[in-house]
Amino acid sequence: MCGIVGYIGRREANDLLIEGLHRLEYRGYDSAGISILHSGENLKSKIKNLKSKNHLVTVRALGKVENLEKKVGEKMKGSVGIAHTRWATHGKPSEKNAHPHTDCAGQIALVHNGIIENYNELKEDLVKQGHLFASETDTEVIAHLIEEHLKEKDDFEAAFTEALKHLRGTYGIAAVALSQPNKLFVARMGSPLLIGVGKDEYFVASDVSAVLAHTKRVVYLEDGERAVITRDGYVVKSGKIIQKKTVSDVEWSEKEAKRGGYPHFMLKEIFDQPESFADALRGRLLPDEGTARLGGLREVEKRLEGIRRIVIVSCGTSSYAGLVGKYMLEEYAGIPVEVEVASEFRYRKMMLDKYTAVLGISQSGETADTLAALREAKKKGALTLGIVNTVGSTIARETDAGVYNHAGPEVSVASTKAFTSQLAILALLTLYLGRKRGMSLVTGQRIARELLKLPRLMERIFVQSGTIKKLAKKYAHRKNYLYLGRKYNFPIALEGAIKVKEIAYVSAQGYPTGEMKHGPIALVDKDALALFIMPLDSVYEKSVSGLEEIKARGGTVLAITTEGNTALEKKADAVVYIPKTLEMLTPILSVIPLQLFAYHMSVALGYDVDRPRNLAKSVTVE
Ligand code: G6P
Repeated sequence: MCGIVGYIGRREANDLLIEGLHRLEYRGYDSAGISILHSGENLKSKIKNLKSKNHLVTVRALGKVENLEKKVGEKMKGSVGIAHTRWATHGKPSEKNAHPHTDCAGQIALVHNGIIENYNELKEDLVKQGHLFASETDTEVIAHLIEEHLKEKDDFEAAFTEALKHLRGTYGIAAVALSQPNKLFVARMGSPLLIGVGKDEYFVASDVSAVLAHTKRVVYLEDGERAVITRDGYVVKSGKIIQKKTVSDVEWSEKEAKRGGYPHFMLKEIFDQPESFADALRGRLLPDEGTARLGGLREVEKRLEGIRRIVIVSCGTSSYAGLVGKYMLEEYAGIPVEVEVASEFRYRKMMLDKYTAVLGISQSGETADTLAALREAKKKGALTLGIVNTVGSTIARETDAGVYNHAGPEVSVASTKAFTSQLAILALLTLYLGRKRGMSLVTGQRIARELLKLPRLMERIFVQSGTIKKLAKKYAHRKNYLYLGRKYNFPIALEGAIKVKEIAYVSAQGYPTGEMKHGPIALVDKDALALFIMPLDSVYEKSVSGLEEIKARGGTVLAITTEGNTALEKKADAVVYIPKTLEMLTPILSVIPLQLFAYHMSVALGYDVDRPRNLAKSVTVE
């Protein structure tokens, strides 16, 4: 998500850090910041009341790295420092929420990538102990926590290590301290972090692209490891044990490294999904209680209890996520749900009242039609809610309450990881509302536990990536593509079809399998490819009948079904498998082969996967 870069050596850190930030900007940038430690007397700074010859100077700016670059000047002299480009998760994008964050005394500065799940509890305790917070971020608690531990341990490394023990969630951290002007402190738990090894100089980065211009030799930290870095070397520890680390040689070009080694952002984002899905659940799922804790809805909890109907408004891929949400919420929370594309909803006579919740789903949080629909709904007295990926976006700000996806920035125009994270939030919402409306504890627990397994199950689909690539190449020149699914997988048929339309520019229809005979079946001939999404669920047998009808008319069938259902290989021309899960969660898995299929088809046809023609990532006009 965010980007971290750090430097310790003999050169001016400022230029190197800013350059590193520029290389990390693709990870998202709503603000950026830098802290430099200066040790020595020849400081040209205009800073007043300096107490020691060492100084720690922090500069932060809203917007792109170039804004930060303009802001930092002479006062940033020094050869030890850390920097960060932020993509907001907690607290809107603003200068005060930008990293680095400092403690009360301004003796510590640190940057963080990840999510601290228990930051609220920690913050409450720290405030009671007299700490003053300057931002709304989860990150700032780390700086104050270290400061607190420094009261007992007069040793920065010990206080840093102690503070880490209290953090729950994920982090990649780089810190500097005024008391340790010749050291960098780093730690990793669930968020990538590496040390770039140069000659008498070391880099720290969340991503190898930040250091490649200076060194191709890196040490990857593992979860639970921390390191102290000086100009002469580094010591990596896990607990009390010193770890012997291997230095790896990176073979990527700088361009490749930008996309984490993947040829396109879309492929990277598809493979990011186990992580982005887990991030959407992080700190929210309560498996033993069979429910979810959604902090963003706390303020409207009472109003939500009286809600009798939900209307979901959204566009494109987000509206297909909404459709899956409808099936989930109606089956498990017993609430009537309508799903409407925002551009239609906004001009219709809307029957809304205070017992209706209008839920906008938007990756960007800026889609003009979704925003307008929500504004209209608000005017009419409905409760407005948002499921939004971009923190601080207009939809996030204007809705009464909402839940963030935490999927990280999505660069490719074709949405992939934002979609599955929207499904994660809708499943959480189903648990949250369902458990208040009669869903049993056992059902809640079953859904919650299954949700936690999904990231691992997603990985099993990736193993078939090569097979899907071959199929995409083989079928890239058909005249018609028919995507068919039933019940929970009908929206996935729509999503599969939109993906190939968007990036492979072919004519594709998404249809409910049962509706096929009312029109689309007329398109079936030997040049048609029918993609059936048919896991072993409550409507499986009916999907088989649909498949037979296509085969009987000379169509080719590619089926997506549940692992173990090899019998289908006799009926379909090709079969791709997804692991078994609860019926309501199958869309989260079944969409992945279709994302890969569209991606490989686009590549096979030679198109610009990440920037398809005529489309935009964020449609801010009507
Ligand atoms: C555009 C994008 C789609 C996206 C849709 C809705 O059409 O190309 O990928 O699904 O907008 O965007 P939103 O940001 O509101 O989810």
